[in-house]
Amino acid sequence: MKRNSNQGALDSCPGSKKAFARKRRFLQGVFAFLGLPAALLRLARNEGRSRYARWRYPKVIFGENCSADEHCKFEEGVCVFGGTVLARASIGRNTYIGCNSVVSYCEIGRFCSIGPGVRIGLGIHPTRGVVSTYPGFYSTRKIGAKGFRDDPTIVEYRHVTIGNDVWIGANALVMDGVALGHGAIVGAGAVVTKDVEPYCIVAGVPARTIRKRLSDYEVAALLKAAWWDWDDKLIADRAHLFSRVDEFLQTMGGGASA
Ligand SMILES: CC(C)(COP(=O)(O)OP(=O)(O)OC[C@H]1O[C@@H](n2cnc3c(N)ncnc32)[C@H](O)[C@@H]1OP(=O)(O)O)[C@@H](O)C(=O)NCCC(=O)NCCS
Repeated sequence: MKRNSNQGALDSCPGSKKAFARKRRFLQGVFAFLGLPAALLRLARNEGRSRYARWRYPKVIFGENCSADEHCKFEEGVCVFGGTVLARASIGRNTYIGCNSVVSYCEIGRFCSIGPGVRIGLGIHPTRGVVSTYPGFYSTRKIGAKGFRDDPTIVEYRHVTIGNDVWIGANALVMDGVALGHGAIVGAGAVVTKDVEPYCIVAGVPARTIRKRLSDYEVAALLKAAWWDWDDKLIADRAHLFSRVDEFLQTMGGGASA
């Protein structure tokens, strides 16, 4: 095809298509050049968080971008999925915590299933008799608020206690100071503001009891059996009984209807 003699001049003209494409390529190069170190930095920071947690707690399995502060405690077999943040949490044997959860100021028992996006122990701001709820007027924790004064008499968190064999559904919130009994279930999206009895299922906002998982007799017998304190070998030997509570209890020496 015959090229227009003015084409060369047009291509180098600032407003032309080619000049525009050249500019775009140049800018893309600049962004890539600047973006790469930023991405590497981000990666290193996120990786660094998980790396610190893995280094400090080598027996725990951590996913990507997790963090666990130096006040955490773990028993064996704990698994923490990606993006989860743990602070001052004590976590029992074989418990797992789903991705993108935030768990602080709490003790969690053994064999618990904590779903994704769960929030436990959110912290407290004063709600009665104060001029302002802003932490800068009382917080001793210096968590980002501009600090005008400290007032250690103001309570900033209350410990959460979660028993053994508790299942917390996705995106549930467990408020400060709440205790969940052994075997309890918290429904997805629930906001738990009050203590939950052992083997109760709660759901909703605020969470209310839906029903009990088992009969009173079975609950008492399971609490007595405390199977979560057995070693993994004994649990493995009896694992075939775990889907039938009546057979389980008969093997333990008592029937469900005793
Ligand atoms: C709470 C849960 C365990 C209930 O199980 P269930 O005992 O089989 O209860 P049912 O499905 O029979 O529902 C009973 C009632 O509770 C209601 N309900 C169930 N789950 C609810 C929830 N998360 N929030 C509010 N109400 C809920 C039901 O609508 C039903 O109400 P109705 O009696 O007025 O019809 C279950 O619904 C749940 O939330 N599971 C969590 C799932 C999850 O997050 N998985 C992530 C993996 S860790």
